[in-house]
Amino acid sequence: MSYDLILENGTVLFPWGEAAADVAVQDGRIAAIGARLGAAAARFNAYGLHVLPGIIDPHVHFRDGGQGGIPGVEDMRSGSLGAVLGGVTAAFDMPNTTPPGVDAASLTAKHHYIAGHSWCEIGLFAGATRENLDESGALETLPGICAMKVFAGSSTGDLLVADDASIERLMRSGRRRVAFHAEDEERLQERKPLFAQGGPYSDHCQWRDVECAFKGTRRITAIARRTGRPAHILHVSTAEEFAFLRGQKDLVGCEVLVNHLLQCAPEVYERLRGYAVMNPPLREKRHMEAAWAAVADGTVDNIASDHAPHPRAAKERPWPATAAGLTGVQTLLPLMLTQVHAGRLSLLRLAQLMAEGPARIYGAVGKGRIVAGNDADFSVVDLRAVRRIENRWIASPCGWTPFDGVECTGWPVATIIRGQVVMYEGQVTGEPIGRPVSFRS
Ligand code: DOR
Repeated sequence: MSYDLILENGTVLFPWGEAAADVAVQDGRIAAIGARLGAAAARFNAYGLHVLPGIIDPHVHFRDGGQGGIPGVEDMRSGSLGAVLGGVTAAFDMPNTTPPGVDAASLTAKHHYIAGHSWCEIGLFAGATRENLDESGALETLPGICAMKVFAGSSTGDLLVADDASIERLMRSGRRRVAFHAEDEERLQERKPLFAQGGPYSDHCQWRDVECAFKGTRRITAIARRTGRPAHILHVSTAEEFAFLRGQKDLVGCEVLVNHLLQCAPEVYERLRGYAVMNPPLREKRHMEAAWAAVADGTVDNIASDHAPHPRAAKERPWPATAAGLTGVQTLLPLMLTQVHAGRLSLLRLAQLMAEGPARIYGAVGKGRIVAGNDADFSVVDLRAVRRIENRWIASPCGWTPFDGVECTGWPVATIIRGQVVMYEGQVTGEPIGRPVSFRS
């Protein structure tokens, strides 16, 4: 018996904790775990390294609806290249693209487009519109769909389903978990005239204030309760929401972004100006502290990047014309490994929140955990490597990161997808081999 690949001499992050172990791969799956596993066509020496389950970034905007993306900004190839360079093996892509991923035709076309265009595995969100409210049961069971995504508050693009009656109708038309951008549209529009054009960038978090986020989250949770349909609140950004969601775990999940864990107002707006503008906004320190407490006590189900590239010119426009959204898929893992180094969370907790958590929340098949039978997706990391994030490292053609100049301790060494080493020491190998992720429906 000879395996295709054995990862040996590393420290492996199993769901139950870390241990010195070898992992054998056959036909793209984890075939055996143990010591002295025998012969293999290829061996990966992970001595001194940690073998994590393939990191999933379940919230990215690769800007590509299957027709080539946005020149100079992003497409599926460049977005997924950033993912694997950053140690991410799978990314779940948002539907606010051209064309939007909102019907069977566009989603099926995008599903077929993945092969040959993506370096990493891809899940697809189906966007809710006022026209497809009764079809969520059909759309969410198309191949490769991780969930319906509802923009209940407006952001980049024109996808929006804001009123309770429409959201409830959608929630009654299917059964899988629905993902929400929960900011409250009514409050957001009400408050917009209160702020002057060309005001400071920090006005962004005064306009889209705490109540805007909290009210939206309360409304969505009430609809989830009425309909019994599970929801996932994306990018939770306020202390008030974390406290509230702590009591809703049976039905409503909670995502936090790396930005809300690491950057806060007012400092970030003074330093980065338009490059700090995102929705929901970066807020004051007390919210950042609440996010860390929510990570520690289990309120948070997953951490994501909300990778959302825009051209520099759009980020440098005066507020509020500044495009909202920040690149992040490539920097997600190094930044979070650095938090492990700083003692803010354990490596096991990182694996739970960045591999197992997203796989569980969306029902990804064969992903998220290093167990026999699962796909052989691994993020191999060096916890001691010290490297600096720089704009010129960023694969997105837009060419910037809000973490330019940040020194990290902990860095991805290899990205392995279904047993194939697609990135090693900063270089990609071969051709893009990413495939659609399958989801339990
Ligand atoms: O800041 C954001 N940018 N938030 C979103 O919800 C959308 C995203 C984008 O697509 O640019």
